Amino acid sequence: MAKVTVVGAGNVGATCANVLAQKEVASELVLIDIKEGLSEGKILDMFQTASLLDFDTAIRGVTNDYAATAGSDVVVITSGLPRKPGMTREELIGVNAGIVKEVVANVVKYSPEAILLIVANPMDTMTYLAAKTSGLKKNRVIGMGGALDSARFRCYLSKALNVNTNEIEGMVIGGHSDTTMVPVVSKATYKGVPVTNFVGEDAIKQVVADTMVGGATLTKLLGTSAWYAPGAAAAYVVESILRNQMKVVPSCVMLEGEYGQRDICIGVPAVIGRGGVEKVLEIPLTAEEKALFDKSADAVRATNAVLKEINVL
Ligand code: 2OP
Repeated sequence: MAKVTVVGAGNVGATCANVLAQKEVASELVLIDIKEGLSEGKILDMFQTASLLDFDTAIRGVTNDYAATAGSDVVVITSGLPRKPGMTREELIGVNAGIVKEVVANVVKYSPEAILLIVANPMDTMTYLAAKTSGLKKNRVIGMGGALDSARFRCYLSKALNVNTNEIEGMVIGGHSDTTMVPVVSKATYKGVPVTNFVGEDAIKQVVADTMVGGATLTKLLGTSAWYAPGAAAAYVVESILRNQMKVVPSCVMLEGEYGQRDICIGVPAVIGRGGVEKVLEIPLTAEEKALFDKSADAVRATNAVLKEINVL
């Protein structure tokens, strides 16, 4: 069985760890944080649910002790600040880039064979930073945004169609950004039938708009960024890796010519299995979707450029 480390015991990291523990995705799970006692406390609280929920995952919380993470198969990086109401994810780069760079260095020192799953924001740029600095092969560095945004897209579609979310297929590609992510309407279906057969253009437009600001809506309601869906979405990707499920998960990955892009980490449909990104799936997009994807790539590149300006790359 496998070992997973979750870095960052804040809301998203702890939720991810909790889902992984309950689903027994790994045999061993370590939660690590810089704040003294936080991981230990959250893990003790979680462990006290084991006899109620009947799970056996060996879970451990540590403060800044990277030696405890050694030999991890997958490391989920949620470190850094979440956004406050009114903030964009991109505004977090100044604080989070330094943190993520240091965390990645500590992680690969003890787990040189790990697959990294980056959740920290601005996620596409933090994934690019990890890909550039970790020394890991490109298929072992994955950013989690598409799994979450697609879950939000499916949620809003199911509300618009008034149907079971599980019967809806839908994916979001491009950057994990309020203004440029691309919900792929042309491929969204209800039981295999295009959603456009069931609702009108205005309703679809509203679904797309709601999906794009899905994170910001929650930040406004909660006063900080969301955690149940982000944590569960990260756990979903970890499960696809460790159980070699080969799920097609819109994920932020390094492109080398796919979708006409290179030297950028951005969300595209990817087959996720035991080797990390097993394959980038190139699906046909409408001309409008492709143009929106390219625009999103431009925005991600502009944020990536900041890494050099602030001397972290
Ligand atoms: C979100 O969209 C935290 O970026 C994450 O909720």
